[in-house]
Amino acid sequence: MTHPEFDAPEPPAEVSASSLLDALGRPLHDLRISVTDRCNFRCRYCMPKEVFGPDFAFLPRSEVLAFEEITRVARLFAERGVRKLRLTGGEPTLRAQLPSLVAMLREVPDVDIAMTTNGTMLRALAQPLADAGLDRVTVSLDSLDDPTFRAMNDMDFPVALVLEGIAAAERAGLAPVKVNAVVRRGVNDHTVLALAEHFRGTPHIVRFIEFMDVGTTNGWQMDEVVPASALVAAIDARFPLEPVEANYTGEVAQRYRYRDGAGEVGFITSVTQPFCSTCTRARLSAEGGLYTCLFAGEGTDLRGPLRAGATDADLGAIIDGTWRARTDRYSELRTAQTPGSRKRVEMSYIGG
Ligand code: GTP
Ligand code: 5AD
Ligand code: SF4
Ligand code: SF4
Repeated sequence: MTHPEFDAPEPPAEVSASSLLDALGRPLHDLRISVTDRCNFRCRYCMPKEVFGPDFAFLPRSEVLAFEEITRVARLFAERGVRKLRLTGGEPTLRAQLPSLVAMLREVPDVDIAMTTNGTMLRALAQPLADAGLDRVTVSLDSLDDPTFRAMNDMDFPVALVLEGIAAAERAGLAPVKVNAVVRRGVNDHTVLALAEHFRGTPHIVRFIEFMDVGTTNGWQMDEVVPASALVAAIDARFPLEPVEANYTGEVAQRYRYRDGAGEVGFITSVTQPFCSTCTRARLSAEGGLYTCLFAGEGTDLRGPLRAGATDADLGAIIDGTWRARTDRYSELRTAQTPGSRKRVEMSYIGG
């Protein structure tokens, strides 16, 4: 079914003209920027307390990229076809003066600026971030059931504070908000329908995410993954759904809308239906490593050259060379056995 308002836009002319393609023919379109490796949650699937406890060595300030460095890198990526910047962490709102960074990134021409956050700081920060030029936010919220949510974030944070954060984002003009829920079998799968129902009839879009084997600390097992197809069926049985075309080629979420017009939901199927063939995302870690896949073991260091006085041409050549050599397609190659078999960067370090 075609919906004119949802048709994928033509890629901007300069993207095709730049012809920066990776080894599998994929262009560069998004840059996900991790601004800190710290978080005020300890979601068991991301930063389990046993690993990220009081003795964990987070990056010292001097090793984290400064705002000027991040902005310089973002500008170089924009010159190479990137049209979307997404701030991530850890938890990006824990980075001091974040609105100043957004204001600096706003000076980069032709980019959409989004942020993925756990929502806990939005009551205070949504308006300053919007004023600085942030376009959109995505808020992680795995369940509306308070005991389930408190257990999942493992810091006893209540649902109500996150809902207040979403409301603050709405007031600041950052709506529609995307709401991310990672679904883990036996943990929060019984609360999926209630989450869908809560946001039906609002402009906000819940996206249910298959639990992924990111990093090496979250104890991932294939049998904890609830296939998105099962979630679509469960929601469709209660609130009939129909598919909607992607906003753009390579969109991460598969979109559906309620047939009664009550809005939209999405499903992120990295495990059961990987989307590597259209993956246009590069990732910058808080310390300036350039990663070409969420599951990469190593990044390409940009901070060293940045601090050693590299010119834009030098840095651009590193970025071009890294992207041109890119062959990653981890999710297409994944089997139930792969998680134990290789080194992978942690989620909190690369921001999802
Ligand atoms: P928009 O399309 O702009 O809404 O952003 P997004 O969905 O790419 O970003 P978000 O930070 O909300 O990520 C949603 C989920 O998709 C998270 O669980 C991410 O880890 C996951 N994700 C995002 N990009 C990729 C990717 O390239 N590969 C895989 N495997 N997962 C991804
Ligand atoms: N699998 C799937 N999604 C995850 N996220 C964090 N860890 C995982 C995982 N193991 C999600 C967060 C956030 C987004 C950036 O990634 O909940 O919404
Ligand atoms: Fe923090 Fe997000 Fe990781 Fe949870 S998933 S620990 S909120 S970075
Ligand atoms: Fe892209 Fe790697 Fe995710 Fe595949 S697994 S979609 S290549 S980030």
